[in-house]
Amino acid sequence: MYHEDMALPGTIRITDVGPRDGLQNEPKSVATASKVQLVDRLQHAGVAEVEVSGFVRPDRIPQLADASEVFDGIERVEGVLRSALVPNERGWEAAQAAGVDKIAVFTSASESFSMGNINCSIAESLERFVPVVRAARSASIPVRAYVSCAVACPHEGPVDPDAVVNLVSSLLEMGVDEIDLGDTIGVATPEDIERLLESCSSVVEPGDLTLHLHDTGRGALACCLHAMHLGVHSFDTSCGGLGGCPFAPGASGNLATEDLVRCCQLLGVHTGVNLAAIREAAAGIEDELGRGPASITGMAMASQS
Ligand code: HMG
Ligand code: MG
Repeated sequence: MYHEDMALPGTIRITDVGPRDGLQNEPKSVATASKVQLVDRLQHAGVAEVEVSGFVRPDRIPQLADASEVFDGIERVEGVLRSALVPNERGWEAAQAAGVDKIAVFTSASESFSMGNINCSIAESLERFVPVVRAARSASIPVRAYVSCAVACPHEGPVDPDAVVNLVSSLLEMGVDEIDLGDTIGVATPEDIERLLESCSSVVEPGDLTLHLHDTGRGALACCLHAMHLGVHSFDTSCGGLGGCPFAPGASGNLATEDLVRCCQLLGVHTGVNLAAIREAAAGIEDELGRGPASITGMAMASQS
């Protein structure tokens, strides 16, 4: 599938999931006003989409309990989609009332992760999504579907790409608009990504997929670059590299938005994202959390200022 001379895309699309994935695992409570500021800074920095929050159980993810208030407070910046996680009909009703532009349902290619994360089997998760996808489509709200553990599971180890393909196929049949493959624990290598894309190409082209790579092993940037050569041009990242999942112990944050943007700048790939503005957004939330920059680009920019 891979040819050395395959061109990089001219443009990629970036969704910053920092306000949701970045904050969901933070033990320190973050004020709603700080979340609103973070989302607005990201919108103005030029990302295509901001995953603002999740309409999930507040006792399971206390940090996102103010999802409706955050949506109430944020700006509506032209050209930016403001999305949120929605696990079930209850979440859909709250998300719709909050005025989301797009929703993301989420399941997993691993049974044990599904059970730990969303308290149901993979098959049950698909049943839960049917009415959500139907309602969202009739309200003209686009639906992303995450497949977590697309490469490996924190409990079961490596995941068979065929399990991912079957799930992707069911989700597409259900009518979701976008498939987002998650390396939830951040262990993927470029070879894993190539194998995954090759397997999935029987049901979805790389150009129609989004990749959501956590960066525990510091391999996410290499994986993104390899995926770009293979035709992927939509990626999730998190400003400052914040993030992690409470149900994937030991996994660290997503690839930092500023690291992907800087790499693309150097390669002449257009992202539409202003690097300084992304760092300003990341620095604001890093201050709130009481820590310094963790991304390579953040550290480099801090040492130059
Ligand atoms: P459940 O326990 O199966 O729900 O939750 P239930 O239907 O049995 O209801 C139990 C109680 O929860 C009821 O309340 C419901 O009303 C309430 P009671 O009657 O007992 O007072 N409830 C809700 N409350 C608010 N909002 C809702 C909701 N649904 C039920 N939407 C559920 C299932 C999925 C909701 C739950 O297990 C949950 O919230 N889990 C947390 C999931 C989560 O946010 N995980 C982290 C994000 S996923 C991730 O990080 C991976 C990703 O980044 C990709 C990657 O990296 O791979 C996306
Ligand atoms: Mg994630």
